[in-house]
Formats: sequence, structure tokens, C-alpha cells
Amino acid sequence: MQNRTLLASAVLAMATLASAPATAQDNKFKIGLILPMTGQQATTGRQIEAAARLYMAQNGDTVAGKKIELIVKDDTSVPDVTKRLAQEMVVNDKVNVLAGFGITPSALATAPIATQSKTPQVVMAAATSSITEASPYIVRTSFTLPQAAVALADWAPKNGIKKVVTLVSDYGPGIDAEKYFKERLTFNGGQVTEALRVPLRNPDFAPFLQKVRDLKPDALFVFVPSGAGAAVMKQFLERGMDKAGIKLIGTGDVTDDDQLNDMGDGALGVVTSHHYSTAHPSPLNKKFVEAFGKANKGMRPNFMAVGGYDGMRVIYEALKATKGNGGGDALLAAMKGQIFESPRGPMFIDAQTRDVVQNIYLRKVEKKDGQLYNVEFDVIKDVKDPGKAK
Ligand code: PHB
Repeated sequence: MQNRTLLASAVLAMATLASAPATAQDNKFKIGLILPMTGQQATTGRQIEAAARLYMAQNGDTVAGKKIELIVKDDTSVPDVTKRLAQEMVVNDKVNVLAGFGITPSALATAPIATQSKTPQVVMAAATSSITEASPYIVRTSFTLPQAAVALADWAPKNGIKKVVTLVSDYGPGIDAEKYFKERLTFNGGQVTEALRVPLRNPDFAPFLQKVRDLKPDALFVFVPSGAGAAVMKQFLERGMDKAGIKLIGTGDVTDDDQLNDMGDGALGVVTSHHYSTAHPSPLNKKFVEAFGKANKGMRPNFMAVGGYDGMRVIYEALKATKGNGGGDALLAAMKGQIFESPRGPMFIDAQTRDVVQNIYLRKVEKKDGQLYNVEFDVIKDVKDPGKAK
């Protein structure tokens, strides 16, 4: 009798043990945010983490009865590390969503884990067109390089720029930028006279810029990832390229709002195309920029921040729509087709491609109240990723 009681209580204890963590787990909703917090891409991590925390501060940390837990891990932008962290987060932490991904190789390295574990992977930064095709569980809230590059290739020849040299970081987004800019410029009667590629890691722009000076194109088109723009600008000006009559143009990554103010007046007049500017003149963006600055010692949100902020929105709304009961597939379904106003302007997650459809703006660097901004002067509405049309 005593034995049976003991046995019964042991069984009860085990059942309690087994169910206790399960209950705690059930009431939590975990977002595994993997970002480069150190190294060459650290500004991307800093911006996205700050934006995710702002979104949570503004919208609460309980949604559909679940307590949201944000787990932030630094992948130092090394794809093998990203993959290992994603695996640990899925297996050990049992995260409901994977998010972040500062560079394309990190997003691609994680794709098989998202697929195998049926975990939605919200890409908040990386911008090579093909990323969304690497897993049916990927949803993107950043942008694509073809989206941005094509708009500039339409603008350039109408503004006296016919001969262009391209200079891009030699990996996915750079190759996309080079290809789609060249195709559209050529279609519009312009010409890319030389296509230069610089290494992603520790690039030395000097020899490439010297070559551009000798080639004397109407403009130099640049793509470098967020964080590298200031170095390009500095060397471009030091070599007197602007004085030699060569215009600097590019996707907005080069006049990154995170660094723009430190680039100095030499950046004035540079025209770029992109989906977000800190100076976007909507009431929603003004509120966003102000709140972001207040929470982060005056820091300006850049296009990475807005990708992180909107990514959190997509996750929160999917959790609401599934009333807190959804697994990966239900969450993913609720992410597809979301349409809303972002600080960047209107945006939409295309249900077919899971990629972002958004306005692309042409902007020029101007000074306002003593600060440098990318001031929008034209807009191409509802741009789908041109890379998906093929
Ligand atoms: C990318 O690696 O996909 C990437 C990184 C930074 C950017 C754009 C694209 O600014």
C-alpha cells in the first residue's frame, strides 16, 4: 500500500515536472533575433535591435495571451555562426520565429533550418533577390537590390548620366545591383563602361576609385552594404572625383542615414534610390524617428531599423491573427498578405513571393537645420522585386 502511494506520488511528481516547463513554454512566444552585433556589420545589429525593442515598448510584450520574449544573439556576420545559433534557438530555446539576418549569406545559411523545423524566418536586413526562394518559410521586410537599382537606372539617363562605371561589393546583393542597374540603364540607352567588384571583407576602395578616375564616366554607381558607405564617400572626395566631374550615385545603402551626418558637406547633392529615408515626410515616420531617437540617445533610425520595426509588426500581427494558438505554418500564413503603413510609406507582404512590395524613392542629400538628410524628390509606387518576374 505504502509502495503504491509512493509510486503514485512519484508518477504525479514526474507528470508535474514534465508539464511545468510545458505550461511556461505555452505562455511564452519566443523570437530568436540573430544579428551582427560586432564586426563590420555591427551598425546593422545595433539599429535592428533598437527598433525591435522600440516596437515592443510601444506595443506591449503580451500579445494574444502570450508573453513575448526577444532572444538576441550575435552572429558576427559569419554564416556558419548564424546557422549554429539558429539551430540552437530552434532546438533548445524552442523559438516560435527566427528573425534578423544582417547579410545575405547569413539568411541563406539559416533557410534549411527554417524549412526543416517549419519555423517562420523573418528577414529584416538581407536584400539579395533570391533569398525568399531559399525557403518557403522566409518572409522579408527589408528590400531587394533590384527594387532599388532599377529606379535609379530610369532616373540617370534622363538627367544627363549616360556612361556609368559600377562598383559593388562582390557578393549576392552587389551582383544583383550591378546586373539590374546595367540591364535597365542599357535598355534606357545608357551604358555601363566598366563593372568593378570589391571584396565584402575589409575592402580597400582606393585602387578601384583610381581606375574610375581614369575612366572618367558621367557617374559612378555604388552598392556597398550598410556601414561601408562613409569609407567610399571619404575616398571618393579625397581623390577629387567630384571635382573631376564624376557624379556619385547608388542605392541608398551608400548614403546610409546612420552615417550620413558624419560624411560632411561633400555628400551634398548625391542622388540615391531607396525604400526608406529618415527624412520621409509622413506623420507616422516623424513619430517613429522621434521615439527612436528618444530611446537611443539621439540615434537616427536607418533603413535597417525600419526593416526590424516592420518585421516585429508582421510577427505581432500574425500572433494576434492566430490568437496565440498557431504553429509555424499558421503563423506563416498570417504573415502573408499583410498590408500596412510603415514609417517608410505603404508596404505589403506579397502572399505569393513572401517578399516586400513597397515604394522606391529618389532622394538627394541636402542640409536641413544643420544636418544632412536624404530628401525624397520622386517616388515609384508599389514596386515588386524585379528579380521575381523572371
Ligand atoms: C545583404 O547582405 O543582403 C545586405 C547587407 C547590407 C545592405 C544591403 C544588403 O545594406
